[in-house]
Amino acid sequence: MSQIRLDKFLAEMQVGTRSEVKKLIRAGKVQIDGKLCKIPETKFDPEQTTVMVGQKEIGYAAFEYFMLNKPKGCVSATEDGRYPTVLDYITEHKRRDLFPVGRLDLDTEGLLIITNDGALSHELLSPAKHVPKTYEAMIDGVVTAEDVEKFAEGVDIGEKKLTKPAHLEIIKSNVISHVRITISEGKFHQIKRMFEAVDKTVVELKRISMGALELDERLAPGEYRMLTKDELELLRRTELC
Ligand code: URA
Repeated sequence: MSQIRLDKFLAEMQVGTRSEVKKLIRAGKVQIDGKLCKIPETKFDPEQTTVMVGQKEIGYAAFEYFMLNKPKGCVSATEDGRYPTVLDYITEHKRRDLFPVGRLDLDTEGLLIITNDGALSHELLSPAKHVPKTYEAMIDGVVTAEDVEKFAEGVDIGEKKLTKPAHLEIIKSNVISHVRITISEGKFHQIKRMFEAVDKTVVELKRISMGALELDERLAPGEYRMLTKDELELLRRTELC
């Protein structure tokens, strides 16, 4: 493990801002492996070191990974002037640099990964990787076998090219239809625009999987948990495909 500066470590672990933690260190409140340390620039290996602020040990996490069942009414961003953000739901975490992997619309629910692992996020979102994303949706309109065929061929949503083939499965076709759809791109409002292209309207949208990672159905909207080691492995394998 690489070395980290004491002030950076404390700031990343949310003890305070960089200037606040520098003050704490200089005031003699911080110990490294049982020894008082007053120098913010001191470097150490955080995996092998015990850092105490006063009587409190400060645990370290290089990366954190959470699965959130995003509720409606919050934005997939790290800050917003109008709406709560998805990060507001992650109430217990060590890192300050978390962000959502990709975006779901304000009124879309479901699986969202929250992490500070930029490399993993980049791989999962890379258009070249075609990571499949599956959604369940309620559609205003009777979804037909013809729509299934059109989605498989690609539809015109007003971009230069047709959408990539999408797998549309009809769970129930009615005035309000229930469908499952898998896309491998992430264009703005993509699913809503795809249904508009066949003269129908998405009324409910929920993401249920991303790559091999499935939403834990025990999580109610707004609830989250850490990813397990196995789930992280699944994601990393997705990334390698
Ligand atoms: N497609 C949409 O239209 N909205 C989302 O939130 C995700 C995919």
